[in-house]
This record gives sequence, C-alpha cells and structure tokens, in this order.
Amino acid sequence: MDYKQKVITALANALDGQLSAEEIALKLEKPKTSDLGDMAFPTFALAKLLHRAPQQIAQDLAEKIDSSDFERVVVAGPYLNFFFDKGQYSAATLENVLNAGAAYGQNDDGNGGKVPIDMSSPNIAKPMSMGHLRSTVIGNSIAEILTKNGYAPIKDNHLGDWGTQFGKLITAYKLWGNEADVKADPINKLVEYYVRFHKEDVDKPELDDEAREWFRKLENGDPEAHRLWKWFREASLEEFNDVYKKLGVTFDTYNGEAFYNDKLEEVVQILKDKHLLVESQGAQVVDLSKYNLNPALILKSDGASLYITRDIATALYRDREYAPAKNLYVVGSEQTYYFQQLKAVLLEMGLKSAPNLQHVPFGLITVDGKKLSTRSGRIILLAKVLEESVELAEKEINEKNPDLANKSAVAQQVGVGAIVFGDLKNERTNNIDFVLADQLKFEGETGPYVQYAHARAESILRKAKATTITADANQVTDPEAWDTIKALADFPAMVKMACDELEPSVIAKYAIRLSKTFNKYYAHSKILADDAGLPARLALVKSVSIVVKESLRLLGVKAPDEM
Ligand code: ARG
Repeated sequence: MDYKQKVITALANALDGQLSAEEIALKLEKPKTSDLGDMAFPTFALAKLLHRAPQQIAQDLAEKIDSSDFERVVVAGPYLNFFFDKGQYSAATLENVLNAGAAYGQNDDGNGGKVPIDMSSPNIAKPMSMGHLRSTVIGNSIAEILTKNGYAPIKDNHLGDWGTQFGKLITAYKLWGNEADVKADPINKLVEYYVRFHKEDVDKPELDDEAREWFRKLENGDPEAHRLWKWFREASLEEFNDVYKKLGVTFDTYNGEAFYNDKLEEVVQILKDKHLLVESQGAQVVDLSKYNLNPALILKSDGASLYITRDIATALYRDREYAPAKNLYVVGSEQTYYFQQLKAVLLEMGLKSAPNLQHVPFGLITVDGKKLSTRSGRIILLAKVLEESVELAEKEINEKNPDLANKSAVAQQVGVGAIVFGDLKNERTNNIDFVLADQLKFEGETGPYVQYAHARAESILRKAKATTITADANQVTDPEAWDTIKALADFPAMVKMACDELEPSVIAKYAIRLSKTFNKYYAHSKILADDAGLPARLALVKSVSIVVKESLRLLGVKAPDEM
C-alpha cells in the first residue's frame, strides 16, 4: 500500500505514456498543508509538450484519471491534488509501526559495511570543550542512524594523547608540579602548569629545548617520561568518562594518537618508497600542489612526528582492520583544510579506502554567549554545563509534577536530553549559541517538549489500561489525526535521509514535527471517548509513543514514561 506508487500509476495511465513513471515521481510535490491534499502534481512542465495551458491539462487529467484508489482527486489551478483514503492509509501505517515496534524504519542499505567513526577525541590534560561535546553527541547519533540503515559502525575515540605538548607538560610538572595536587584535581592542575609554561617560555627559550628533549624521551620509551604520560592520560580519561557516563555514550575503541606511535615508521617508509617525501628546510613533507593544497609536514627537522603523521597511520590501520565502507571523522569545521590535506596524502599513497574518507564537520558552539577556551584561562567545564542543566530540569519538574516517582532519574534524562537535543536539532555545520534555559523549556522546539509528547502518549495508554493493542484494521478517520498519521508514515524515509546526509538534525526536526502534530491531535479530539473508534485511536497513540521514543534513541536521548 504505497500511495506514492498509486499516484504515479494513476497519472501514468491518464497520461497515456507521455511521461515515464520516473519522470512523474520527480515532479510530485507535497502540499504545504493537508487541506490542500496529500500529494500534488504540477502541470507547468507539460504545457510545452502538450501545447496546452497548465490549468487545462490539470482539468483534462482530472476527467481521465482513475480516482477509485483515492478519497478524491481535485484540480487546483495548474495542480492536480490527490487526497489519500484516510481509513486505508491509517490502517496500513499503524499496522507497519505496530508490527515492527522499535524496528520500524529499519533498512538494510548498509549491507553490514563497517564504518569507523572518529569521534569525541578530546585532548589529554585539557578540559573537554563544547566542541568535543558536539563531536561526541553527533558521532554517537550518526552511529545509531548508521546501524538503523544496516551499517556496522565502530565508534573510535581518537584521544589527543601524544605530541610535543606532552614534552611541555612534563617539563612544567617537573618544575612546578606535585603529585598530591594533580591527584586532587588532575585536569585543572595540568592546565595550570601548561598555561604557566607558555607564559614563562616567552622569556626563557631554554624551556622549549627542555620540552623537546622530554618529548624525544617519551617517543623513545624513557621510563620516567612514560610513567608521567601514562598517569596524566589515565587521570584525564577518568574525568572524560564522567561526562560520557552522564551522556550515556560508549565507545568501541579508544585508539588515541599514542596507539599509533609504533606504527609511524612504516608510514614514513611507505611514503619514501612511493617517492612522496621531499625535504624542505630539514623537514620531510609531501607536496600537494596538484591538489592546490599546501605541503603536508610529516616529520619535523628533529625527526618528531606530527598530528598528521599519526592520522596517516590511523587511516592505514582502519583500512586494514575494517576495509571501511565509509570512514568518518566527526571533527569541527576549523579542521576542514587539514582533512583535505590528509585525504590528499592518502590518495597519493593509493590507500584503498582513501576515497571513502569523509570529514563530517560541525560549527562552533558557545554557551550563553560565552566561548569556551583553555587559553583565556576562563574555562567553563562541560561537566558543569551538564550538571547545571540537570538542576534546572529538577526545578522544572518540581514545579510541574512534584509527586513524580524517581524524580532525580527523570531530571537526569531531561537535563542531559535537553543539551543533546538542543545541539542535534541544528544542522551540524551551523554555529550555535546555547542558552541553557531555552533548551529546557517544555514548550517550543526542545528535547523536553519531545520527551513530553512521549510521556503524554504513555500516560494516555496507562489511563486507557490499553493492554491489548492489535495491529490490524485501525482506521482512524478523524481529520485531526491525519497529520500525525502522515508523520508516522514518513519515518522510514527520514531514517534514510539522515543517513545519506549524516545529519542527525533530520531526525530531531522530524521528532519535533511528530510531537507537534500529536499535541494538536490531543488538544482537538477526545482520544479516550468510549466509542467504536477507541481501539484505533489507542493504536495511533501507541504508534506515536514507539516512533517518538525511537527517534529520540537515534539521537542518544532517553524517553521517560512519566515526567
Ligand atoms: N584531538 C583533536 C582535537 O581536539 C581532534 C582529533 C580528531 N581526529 C583525528 N583523527 N584527527 O582537536
């Protein structure tokens, strides 16, 4: 029961083969509102072909067309508008949702193809920034969306745990640090040492020499350097894990930059063998002029590796380990040029999966108008933002539903959900300013609003004591329910679109739309009225609950049954 197909067939017959099914499909439009019809066929493009005015063509088609499959087919100026049979369409849609349950909308397009997703990837000894938050929640949602489309994603946290900055950090710690302080408040203390290093090395260039020496030792496996590095890494990870736990995000691998330390030699060897490395002022670079890009610096003159050296090793590793169908990097837009260079080097190396490398960029985020940065010294910790959001949610719940059971668990789901949803509802490349209080409103396009639609549906089902909802013959003909039913039917297409565009906002916007139509339905009709239509209406409510919850799950947001 595919209504689009019915429209196409009816038109193809009425047009006597003057347009192919594909041509018709491309022309079909969705009217702005349901009272204009459910699908529209514009006739402008036919005017030339048929030597008649578009209005006339619409008239003629209306007379010829077999409309028995539809509620009605009407002419509106140069358009032919199709109204679907509400009873039939609602029954078929609800049957699809109820039979599939949470699996509704799933497809096998990905064919089990492996997709490493490079995501989150904060830097050791630095606070996780809001940018890393974006990478975490966008990456996590893309992983869920890919799974729903039949891919097998691998969420990899490419920690920034290697690089010359660790030479600086060890130097600074040796000069000014002490163990007890770092143990008490690891990241803050380490940042303090790092900032002090940068202040003092302006007048004392010998500090830089020392730092270079410590990094060289680290790269060569010096036990003291390694012990300190390992400790800093573990202490930092502990703090990061706290945030991941709050967000409910897990990773399949934590193969940070350090993981590739012993794999760099091979990279350099391959580049040499392929005659790609050239010397430039003592350093080793890959020329990328044929891509219109600056050369990629692979080894510094002192032989030290760079961020890109480790990324080449990473790509090589993923290529061998996964033979990726797609190879995704969820990293801020500020690294766009860098990823162009990386991809170019990999293409030059002839890496099989190089063409599949895709940078998935996202915009900047500010919170209540404030930018988050380590350098300025004013750090807004991500964990704090999450805590604040949960507190605000708790306040809101205390006002709205003071008797709610497990209030603090629900506040957690609402507070965190508000931040995650508030991020994901924006197209990822947009810059966003986060006004926390706005994201927590139960009205408007927010996470809590969508969560509330789900809780409302669940509450209706509780009230109705609806234990047996059957999947067949659920004809809902109330005009008020129509937009909700059409929204439910659209979900599988949205799942595909979100995957094609790697764009969680497609799902978030969809969830808002479904919630809005459902709230309107709720406001305008007596769902629980005890009449013959009740079972079908409850089937609709149950379907809404399933699809809202599943949409939120694809975004990494929980859907409490009560709030
Ligand atoms: N640690 C980096 C940063 O915070 C992000 C790493 C992104 N992933 C990668 N493979 N380069 O900027």
